[in-house]
Amino acid sequence: MKEKIEKLLETKRKIELGGGEKRIEKQHSQGKLTARERINLLLDEGSFIEIDAFVTHRCTNFGMENTEANADGVVTGYGTVDGRLVFVYAQDFTVLGGSLGEMHANKICKVQEMALKMGAPIVGINDSGGARIQEGVDALSGYGKIFYNNTKASGVIPQITAIMGPCAGGAVYSPALTDFIFMVDGISRMFITGPQVIKTVTGEDVSQEDLGGANTHNRISGVAHFMDKSEEDCIKRIRTLLSYLPSNNLENPPAYQSEDDINRMEEKLNELVPVNPNKPYDMKEIIKLIADNNEFFEIQEYYAQNIITGFIRLNGKTVGVVANQPKVLAGCLDINASDKAGRFIRTCDAFNIPLLNLVDVPGFLPGTDQEYGGIIRHGAKMLYAFSEATVPKVTLIIRKAYGGAYLAMCSKDLGADQVFAWPGAEIAVMGPDGAANIIFKNDIKNSENPMETRQEKIEEYRNTIANPYIAASRGFVDDVIVPGITRPRLISAFDMLESKRETSPAKKHGNIPV
Ligand code: HXC
Repeated sequence: MKEKIEKLLETKRKIELGGGEKRIEKQHSQGKLTARERINLLLDEGSFIEIDAFVTHRCTNFGMENTEANADGVVTGYGTVDGRLVFVYAQDFTVLGGSLGEMHANKICKVQEMALKMGAPIVGINDSGGARIQEGVDALSGYGKIFYNNTKASGVIPQITAIMGPCAGGAVYSPALTDFIFMVDGISRMFITGPQVIKTVTGEDVSQEDLGGANTHNRISGVAHFMDKSEEDCIKRIRTLLSYLPSNNLENPPAYQSEDDINRMEEKLNELVPVNPNKPYDMKEIIKLIADNNEFFEIQEYYAQNIITGFIRLNGKTVGVVANQPKVLAGCLDINASDKAGRFIRTCDAFNIPLLNLVDVPGFLPGTDQEYGGIIRHGAKMLYAFSEATVPKVTLIIRKAYGGAYLAMCSKDLGADQVFAWPGAEIAVMGPDGAANIIFKNDIKNSENPMETRQEKIEEYRNTIANPYIAASRGFVDDVIVPGITRPRLISAFDMLESKRETSPAKKHGNIPV
């Protein structure tokens, strides 16, 4: 028996070396960690349990029968993050370039299915040359099964992907089907077709980094949600994200003991927003002043910055924040902002995360680019996602709330459970300037001093219509509050809403405009 145990341990040591010392060195020289190092950083120390380490390929094409592939190029198993069960897979680039064949895919599918059965999050770390070329259709089938599992698990367990190397061709669609994509600056690459194919087909010259690096997908395409400078920072951030999420759709996110005073008044909030509705300010300051410990975990920080999405905690409990950013495009809603917010709202609703909507929005961004790009169907995603969401929804109107954008930011009519407004809020069909130009057109034209009359009419409109009190008199706003007491009022509202139950009509699934 002793010999057998020794042989087992020896085999395990060999498997753990993946593609061997030289390839590990190459991996390190590129600023990359190995699959096992990544998993060990992600999971609580000593908690990783590997499964399927002995699995290997059974391909006999192109001399593959003589090619050893430890663990078939992917390390899979489970462990804990902050003591909570998490499933994991990490592709091992040192073994056949982390390429995905039949057995490699089967291993990923096994942990996907276990995560779904156990109701625990799954984190996938991608670092792969894509479909294993020698395995042909078996490799393609493997991807298909992974996509299928991703879709089945969507909205049931949190699915997180970190791209830590190449991820090309159809392989990008597994990450795309998950809830959150993390990328590392200078290391991650995601594209459907690489620079060479693009050059042949369209004649364009583009580098791998410009085509599919972390900056591209965080700032331009909106495919990714997070960007970090190093793999270590990225993995730390994944752990933080998990702390905001429940393990599955039947649980609430973990609640922590709040170290921050739940009755904290914040005088700064009384001063922070300029009275002049055309003056910008930084909405993130408001978010931080309201949040426990002033902490804000932002999601898609670099994309569509005219809208802000992310998590805070109020009284130790996760709250999803959707907020207009007056500093960027005056906080207008456009195609990208609608996509970003729509997706985030649905993520929160799927995982029982209450929504806080902070409104300062002048409207939808005008222009042919927006109309031709389909702002109608993109904007509709926000209306749909807010209307569909059954989690507690609290809306706070901070300043401007005009037109369709007022509705799209979750007005009472879209099911907001509580709507608050600050005293400077202006709720109207459009801004006073535009409104005066239309309804007082003749008064202005026929006046002896049109400029002065216009100003008077703008003021008249603002005083009559553009304030929070008419909306409050109709019950569209539940209360107009002093800004300084916002934190205690929101905490009280979310506490009151904790037992909210809302059922939707039975249906197979809705048909959100895409
Ligand atoms: C088999 C592969 C492989 C693959 C890499 N390797 N990709 N083996 N199938 N897809 C092997 C290499 O032969 C090499 O083996 C080792 O992995 C390391 O690769 P290198 O090329 O030395 O590494 P590097 O220089 O860093 O280049 C990485 C790379 C390049 C850019 C990813 O390997 C590459 O272009 N690979 C092919 C990418 C590709 O076209 N894949 C198919 C995409 S389409 P040795 O033994 O020399 O170490 C796709 C369709 C999915 O995936 C469809 C799903 C629906």
